[in-house]
Amino acid sequence: MKKKKTDRSRPDHYAKKAKKDQYPARSIYKLEEIQKKFKVIRPGDRVLDLGCAPGSWMKYAAGIVGPGGRVVGVDIKDVGDLPRGWPDNVSYFQCDILDMDADVRKSIGDGYNVVLSDMAPSTTGIKNVDAARSYLLSEAALEIAGQLLDPGGCFVAKIFQGGDFEAFIAAVKRQYATRKIFKPQSCRKDSKEIYVIGMGKKQKGNE
Ligand SMILES: C[S@@+](CC[C@H](N)C(=O)[O-])C[C@H]1O[C@@H](n2cnc3c(N)ncnc32)[C@H](O)[C@@H]1O
Repeated sequence: MKKKKTDRSRPDHYAKKAKKDQYPARSIYKLEEIQKKFKVIRPGDRVLDLGCAPGSWMKYAAGIVGPGGRVVGVDIKDVGDLPRGWPDNVSYFQCDILDMDADVRKSIGDGYNVVLSDMAPSTTGIKNVDAARSYLLSEAALEIAGQLLDPGGCFVAKIFQGGDFEAFIAAVKRQYATRKIFKPQSCRKDSKEIYVIGMGKKQKGNE
């Protein structure tokens, strides 16, 4: 039997809720579910958000870390502004993660408590190609976390499940004391995306 496709042009429950709650994207609820279950972000944390546009995760994380913390975002696209402007504890850079500009890299700094990646590639509709592109981004995020995340820190990355999924979760397991795999309810039902969470980074630098 042919699977029914979801009509993504029509706002679903989460898209409508995001608009009402004044978040620029429905993806906020994925991070909210992750946070409720795993408490990855704490007040005062420094959070790096890879693939941050249009900024829902940054806005949500900024509220948790509070004025004593900091949220730094990076996206290949322009992030734009929020209707009421960005909180003071948020900054962002426009840059390709796979080819990071040396100046941006310097400005981002290090000493993070949390590295988030909700990066998603431009999709082709061909499952293997999209999963391979997603793996590349997740791997890059893991490598950046290896360099910029403090020991004990948390890593959260989206990945499209495909041939390289097992290799990715094995790499996270090697670098973090605890590794979890989580599919938020707010993910679209027809999506291959899933989140891999590493808690308790073992040491600074890659393996
Ligand atoms: C699903 S969106 C992120 C939504 C965001 N978490 C939010 O809540 O607003 C995925 C983002 O990944 C970004 N992205 C994809 N490839 C990237 C790359 N190579 N470097 C930086 N950002 C990238 C896209 O531009 C896109 O904005």
